[in-house]
Amino acid sequence: MMKESLVKAYSTQANAEWYSAYLYLAMCSHADSLGLKGFANWLYVQYQEEMAHGNHMYQYIAERGEKAIFSAIEKPEKVEWASLTEMFEQVLEHEQKVTGLINDIATLSKNENDHASYNFIQWYVDEQVEEESSADEILSTLKFVKEDPVAVYNMDKEFQARVFVDPFANAK
Ligand code: FEO
Repeated sequence: MMKESLVKAYSTQANAEWYSAYLYLAMCSHADSLGLKGFANWLYVQYQEEMAHGNHMYQYIAERGEKAIFSAIEKPEKVEWASLTEMFEQVLEHEQKVTGLINDIATLSKNENDHASYNFIQWYVDEQVEEESSADEILSTLKFVKEDPVAVYNMDKEFQARVFVDPFANAK
């Protein structure tokens, strides 16, 4: 069993992860509309990762013998971006916001003396370091090259190679 406050917090976070998926799918669609297949692929993999995060949290709640609380997933706040730089600024800002949410859950899990939940959330604490770092790296490159078409073309080619690897495949 889990305390109600934690069921609420984990359910809200599952929803936030699914929202992240939705946001990245909107970005993927925008990149696709620009003909940037590699950026679209990178964002689609991001979408798949966020779906996996939400599902993983939902499964954790169920594993603890609780019922997740479902609420509406908001529509993406934006579906158009003026530039790739602006888009990746939002990716970074969004991930920084998610880091804050994850940290709050870690604190709550600790305060509620739920060590299983505290251990569970540590995977996400590490994951957020990687999420922020990869968004920051892409954003810095876009700023550095000032979205020079040849550089963007090369980035797009590179991003075509990204594949989704289910981080929880072995845990099932
Ligand atoms: Fe589920 Fe991008 O963090």
